[in-house]
Amino acid sequence: MSQWTARRQRLKQWLAQHEADAFLVSSAANVRYLFGFRGEGLGVVASVSALCTDRRYELDAAALPGRIERVLHPAGHLEGAIEHLRALGARKVAFESQALTFATFEQLRKKLRGVKLLPTSGVVEGFRAVKSPEEIALIARAAEVTDQALAAILPLLKPGVTEREVALELDRQLVMHGGERPAFDTIVAFGPSAACPHAVPGPRVLEPGQMVKIDCGARVDGYCADITRTVPVGKPDARLQQVYGAVLEAQQAAIAAARAGLACKDLDAVARDVLRCHGLAEQFGHGLGHGVGLEIHELPAVSTRSQDVLRRGMVVTIEPGVYIEGWGGVRIEDTVAIEARGCQVLTRTPKWEVSGA
Ligand code: GLY
Ligand code: MN
Repeated sequence: MSQWTARRQRLKQWLAQHEADAFLVSSAANVRYLFGFRGEGLGVVASVSALCTDRRYELDAAALPGRIERVLHPAGHLEGAIEHLRALGARKVAFESQALTFATFEQLRKKLRGVKLLPTSGVVEGFRAVKSPEEIALIARAAEVTDQALAAILPLLKPGVTEREVALELDRQLVMHGGERPAFDTIVAFGPSAACPHAVPGPRVLEPGQMVKIDCGARVDGYCADITRTVPVGKPDARLQQVYGAVLEAQQAAIAAARAGLACKDLDAVARDVLRCHGLAEQFGHGLGHGVGLEIHELPAVSTRSQDVLRRGMVVTIEPGVYIEGWGGVRIEDTVAIEARGCQVLTRTPKWEVSGA
């Protein structure tokens, strides 16, 4: 049985438990996870599952593994899915409330009169949170590509270069080293720009003594990697060194603590407590990390409010950061795979050590 058939089988068990006849899959990542399909379309998982797309993807759909119907409806993907659901005689249809527009919902309600529509949230995302060894290998490969791309652009970090120039070359290197494309919009931020956690690379010119924050990742066969490094150009001042040292200590403490069974909020607390000891907790304004897989941000959340617990096979980021308006920011991030007694760090680009300043 292919991995896609096995995943759909698992969803069919969920349908049986919830006395539903079909699951309408509209999240692109979930369609890919359940069908192996990379194009635009909708999935229906039911006694007879279907991939509903259009003629642009006819050959891709034909090549998909498993016993599924390929529905190519001239009026669109939704019409195809509705036709399939009618043919199945489905009476109760689950849908993804976070991946379906209100307009689409209205269409379903109008065209499937008498059918109970069951809103769901996080069902397939929950399956996806724990990765198979094959998925972890793809994320590890994406991490390797990312490390190689980062190594290739480090020599560019000289006074006079702009954020945009570095970001553009980094994106090129991510592809040249084997990535399909960047997993998300690359962040390159010099000096004060780094105070914004998700700074957009701009025309700012690098000056001696500034820190450079780079956040990037490759995508390989759909799977993402995520890394942030903050590196000095020239000799950073004492404050930069002190903040950097605190963030590195927080990150190392969290990597050392990460293991199956630990609550995600407790992992977040490990890093946050270190920063608190340095008087920097207030400047750490986001969660410690997030799951990584077919999407750059997926379950589990690693934050103060998370209810998730780390499990073997989850892949998460560990990315404490300190951001000070008008001054700058430091973030250090790795993608790690959770194991029974620890974690495997998949991103391996060396980190700057303060003592080497
Ligand atoms: N690396 C981008 C993010 O985690 O938001
Ligand atoms: Mn991240």
